[in-house]
Amino acid sequence: MQFHKEREKILIIDFGSQVTKLIGRNIRELGVYSEIINIKDFLKIKEFHLIKGIIFSGGPSSVTSKNHQTVSKKIFEKNIPILGICYGLQLIAKLFGGKIKPSRSTREFGRAFLIKKKSSQLTKDFFKRKTTVWMSHEDAVIKLPKSFKTIASTSNSKLTIIENTKKKIYGVQFHPEVTHTKNGKQIFKNFIFSICKIKKNWNVSSQKLRLINEIRQEIKNDKVICALSGGVDSSVAALLINKAIKKNLICIMVDTGLMRKNEFKSSFDIFKKKYKLNVKLIDASKIFLKKLKGVANPEKKRKIIGKLFIKVFEKEAKKYKNIKYLAQGTLYPDIIESKSSTGSKTSKIKSHHNVGGLPKLMKLKLIEPLKEFFKDEVRILGKSLNLVNEINYKHPFPGPGLGIRIIGEITLEKIKILQEADNIYIKELLKNKLYYKIWQAYAALLPIKTVGVMGDARTYENICLLRAVTSNDGMTADYYNLPKKFLDRISNKIVNNVKGINRVVYDITSKPPSTIELE
Ligand code: XMP
Repeated sequence: MQFHKEREKILIIDFGSQVTKLIGRNIRELGVYSEIINIKDFLKIKEFHLIKGIIFSGGPSSVTSKNHQTVSKKIFEKNIPILGICYGLQLIAKLFGGKIKPSRSTREFGRAFLIKKKSSQLTKDFFKRKTTVWMSHEDAVIKLPKSFKTIASTSNSKLTIIENTKKKIYGVQFHPEVTHTKNGKQIFKNFIFSICKIKKNWNVSSQKLRLINEIRQEIKNDKVICALSGGVDSSVAALLINKAIKKNLICIMVDTGLMRKNEFKSSFDIFKKKYKLNVKLIDASKIFLKKLKGVANPEKKRKIIGKLFIKVFEKEAKKYKNIKYLAQGTLYPDIIESKSSTGSKTSKIKSHHNVGGLPKLMKLKLIEPLKEFFKDEVRILGKSLNLVNEINYKHPFPGPGLGIRIIGEITLEKIKILQEADNIYIKELLKNKLYYKIWQAYAALLPIKTVGVMGDARTYENICLLRAVTSNDGMTADYYNLPKKFLDRISNKIVNNVKGINRVVYDITSKPPSTIELE
């Protein structure tokens, strides 16, 4: 259980909503420490004096079902302000004797219009008379619980915001944590500062020295090994550890040959020359290509790449004596996700490549300096560590790399073609100041050839697919609406400059139903 036993906080109880993490991030962005906990772990807490406010998240279950997740009514006697969101509101209403009904006529998905009925501390400066909020619910509260008042309504759910000021308990049916709710952050601001009266206590950059000291104290004179990918998480983790223990940190970069054009080598040079890391680059591209020969199945490719990565890393690490720790760039969301609130397993869509199997295999202790931070916070840390923008603000890149962006069998020729096209695409996005507006962008190579005409001659070549998505955490995503002029230019540039591509297509599907990567 991750519950900091000294820090005052706003505690979020996760009932399984897809967007609970956004509540945590919203609070931290306001300068207040927040933690997300599942209901089982919540029951183990004894240090209630540290909890200045509680938020019940949304969730997929229904309070009308027999086995719904709930809290003990005793929680309302602790004099801690509580805000329920969606399922959280319905749970509060139920526990206070209100009535909740699953009904076709009350369900709302997407945009809804909220109309004010009464002023409240919770909604101060949130809206004047009407506003747009984001909804996602089947059930609705149809009878107000005793001693509660209605603050606002929509046409489908009359009890959209409710409050019991005496007990400092509030509920909202919509999701203030998502960006589609206009000015949603104001709800959190009012709740934590005016109602919970917590003071600002969270500033990511000021955590840097604490982290460095903690790492130093833990590791002392032992040695740490780190698989450095050149992505923001492992880079920030390595820089922090390096500040703490210098030469006792050994970084290994395994080049699978499935990286973007020149990017890996350029990151290696930056780590070595600018940050003076003890870093070694292992060129394993030939072995990867050999093992992948003839393999077209996405899951098989993923498993081969993941296993081989661990093998190569382990072999290299064995050359160093007396290593006690393995450093990983695990983030706070990874920790929350590994403890699902419902305990239910989500269905496996893809086998993710990660270094999770390494510590046990190599009998190493884990050091995970970023495990209390969200991605945006890691970037703030990265900035305070002077990490170059090209690494700190880099788009996420999957462990199997171009291996899952070359659809079907991987060959050296296809890698080269894709690297060229992808390089042109990313460079143009940067040049046109689009790169940082996009969560992730890449080019992929489709396994079909089509006919084209160039210089009056027939061509029969590959299709390049371009993808660019907006997202908060990769769980859901929408395609980015690239300007037509940009698409025109990029299509021309790729076809004119990359031998082997005669057609460019742009992927306009969201996630779900698609995924961000193609394999
Ligand atoms: P999907 O394709 O599942 O991707 O929508 C969601 C996010 O995860 C990244 N991704 C991976 N990251 N190892 C990783 O470290 C992997 O095996 C892997 N597969 C997908 C993907 O790039 C996107 O950001």
